Amino acid sequence: MVDPDESTRRAIRLALDGKEPAEIERAIEELAERTLRLAAPPLAQGEREPLAPGERERNGQSRLVGESPAMTELRATIARVAPHRSTVLIRGESGTGKELVAREIHEASGRAGRFVAVNCGAIPAPLLESELFGHKKGAFTDAVRDRTGLFEDADGGTLFLDEVGELPLPLQVKLLRAIQESEIRKVGDTATVRVDVRVVAATLRDLEAEVKAGRFREDLYYRLDVLQVMIAPLRHRTEDVPALVEAFASRHPDGAARFTGAAIDLLQRATWPGNVRELENTVERALVLAETHEIDAPFLATVLAPSSAPSEPAPDPAEELSIKRATRSLEADLIRRALEATGGNRTAAARLLEISHRALLYKIKEYGLGGRN
Ligand SMILES: Nc1ncnc2c1ncn2[C@@H]1O[C@H](COP(=O)(O)OP(=O)(O)OP(=O)(O)O)[C@@H](O)[C@H]1O
Ligand SMILES: [Mg+2]
Repeated sequence: MVDPDESTRRAIRLALDGKEPAEIERAIEELAERTLRLAAPPLAQGEREPLAPGERERNGQSRLVGESPAMTELRATIARVAPHRSTVLIRGESGTGKELVAREIHEASGRAGRFVAVNCGAIPAPLLESELFGHKKGAFTDAVRDRTGLFEDADGGTLFLDEVGELPLPLQVKLLRAIQESEIRKVGDTATVRVDVRVVAATLRDLEAEVKAGRFREDLYYRLDVLQVMIAPLRHRTEDVPALVEAFASRHPDGAARFTGAAIDLLQRATWPGNVRELENTVERALVLAETHEIDAPFLATVLAPSSAPSEPAPDPAEELSIKRATRSLEADLIRRALEATGGNRTAAARLLEISHRALLYKIKEYGLGGRN
């Protein structure tokens, strides 16, 4: 197989031929940094660089916007899991805020070290081991000097393993060992290094299914899934839409425009397969393209991605007058959302719904809904 990096390497070797060792070191540093930047997921349109350390302290508050029951529960969960060293597994659809939540967990943990994020799906498998654990000089052809890995960079802090489901099986074994023993071994080294790292992992894959299919190690799955944080999709917490729109608009340089009530209503009925990130991008698109100071529903409909357009027209209250049917449908919907927000925990869901545990069990059975305790 052709190594796509080989031509780059050859060019670098030629370019560095006869250069001073210090110059060579500098070039290597630059290359390493470039590799990391390339490996980081590209910022989506409208997405900002994460807050620099300390910025949150200046703001004095969390960046998580939303007061829906699901968000309130999420904040409570973050506060509950943050102080522990146990591994956290964050689940949620694309764009629901998994990385943001991982940062919040780190910042609320009081851990003095850094928050280091790595996207396991974005780094080519052969590079990933050295990226995570570092390497010794001479471990492979291009290892011209010792290099520390991200585990060591996150010593005393938090390592966020995004898309953990993408980790190749051999590396899963090494990750398990690193978490279990709190020590790592650099590529090409015989000695181990002790590290104090809190691992937070995220996935949008169904890891149980991956385990069943033999693509994800069961032992690692249980190691990662000690504490679970579930982020509900935006379409199940549409109460958060107005606050999110306001927050995104206020951060934008063209943020003076106002969204009409009907525009907000349209955004609340949209389906948002790309969740909060998609909403953020839509708000930005609307602000940039709007020619008036008022963003109304017809204009918004032109900037909304077709995949997000509400599947049903605005409900016509004259059509459905049965209070009984409407109540049942609302109840079933609320229960579904509460179960989703709590990762299927019925006790917590009953609390959110403000009904007794018994009543919830009864209704789950009546409406044929799932969930675990
Ligand atoms: N509750 C929230 N309040 C404010 N901003 C949010 C919230 N949730 C998500 N965002 C913003 O939405 C964008 C997507 O969030 P993030 O990158 O954390 O999602 P993700 O779940 O990691 O997405 P992906 O699965 O695509 O990696 C970011 O710009 C983030 O700041
Ligand atoms: Mg992410």
